[in-house]
Amino acid sequence: MIVLGIESSCDDTAAGIVEDGRERASVVASQDDVHGPYGGVVPELAARNHVVHVVPVVRRAIEKAGLTLDDIDGVAATMGPGLVGCLLVGLSTAKAIARARGLPFVGVNHIEGHLLSIELDEALERPFLGLVVSGGHSALYWAREDGSYGLLGSTRDDAAGEAFDKAAKLLGLGYPGGREIEALAREGNPTAFSFPRPRVRGAELDLSFSGLKTALRLAVEKNPDAVPADVAASFQAAVVETLVGATRRAIGETGARTVVVTGGVSANQALRGAMQEMADHEGAVLRVPPLRRCTDNGVMIAYAGWRRLARGESDPLSLNARAQLPLGPRMSLGS
Ligand code: KG4
Ligand code: ZN
Repeated sequence: MIVLGIESSCDDTAAGIVEDGRERASVVASQDDVHGPYGGVVPELAARNHVVHVVPVVRRAIEKAGLTLDDIDGVAATMGPGLVGCLLVGLSTAKAIARARGLPFVGVNHIEGHLLSIELDEALERPFLGLVVSGGHSALYWAREDGSYGLLGSTRDDAAGEAFDKAAKLLGLGYPGGREIEALAREGNPTAFSFPRPRVRGAELDLSFSGLKTALRLAVEKNPDAVPADVAASFQAAVVETLVGATRRAIGETGARTVVVTGGVSANQALRGAMQEMADHEGAVLRVPPLRRCTDNGVMIAYAGWRRLARGESDPLSLNARAQLPLGPRMSLGS
């Protein structure tokens, strides 16, 4: 079964083709140049650019796979969570193709796409603990054998990627900020500044990054001559330790043996290294996607869609985009 997947929840227009659970093609049109001058995604600009890119991106993905539209057996698109104006572009395109070609259609949860992208390379044991860290999301999930999810904790304010992006803006670096901070941090001293490792009292699996952002701003104001690489390295160390700490506590609470870390921030080598060390120490297996699949892509949407379509499931064309789309209900600890 060959499935086309379309992703347009944020600022990347992406299409992927999956055949029987394996990647056949992936095309991503990045809008970094559009949003770079603003240091963050401008929703209206993102939506308009999706309109420009979506059809050429879908066409290129089909060509790259050496196929034609006649070979496609089903169509999937991200239905949420994300920016509604952006989601609508990919979703409408997928529905239009499905309608015109008489193909089954499914709406995919973006977060599930990120988590399951691991399976494009190797089967994933369930249950597993999943940390999704990107520009829009920072949350810990419990993925059960039956395919359902529980939310263990999530950010109370900024997402980890958003924190990287805002820090980069403050340091006068480019957008997206995560990669820039990581590159600069390589030459810096991570102990030069002692930034807080924020914890949410009474909700130890929740995250918070807004205090860290303020601490960074104050440190830069107080130390105008600070070496930028030291600031970047110290900031990155604080984010990494915060994420690793919450994940370690979640392993303690759930007894997870498999831990998935995914989303744009999972491309960060310092995070990957620290997570690996922690997982080894806890006796858990760490699974991270290859770098090209950490950030948003269409293949992960095609894959999550293929799983449902292959089971004979589909969604009606009346399915709507949802800015908020919980992957599962909040799970209380010990339950
Ligand atoms: O998953 P993604 O492409 O989009 C969302 O679903 O949000 O994630 C993008 C985010 C951006 O905030 C970007 O700064 C961050 O991922 N990011 C990184 C790295 N590469 C991308 N953060 C830290 N280190 C990186 N190497
Ligand atoms: Zn994402």
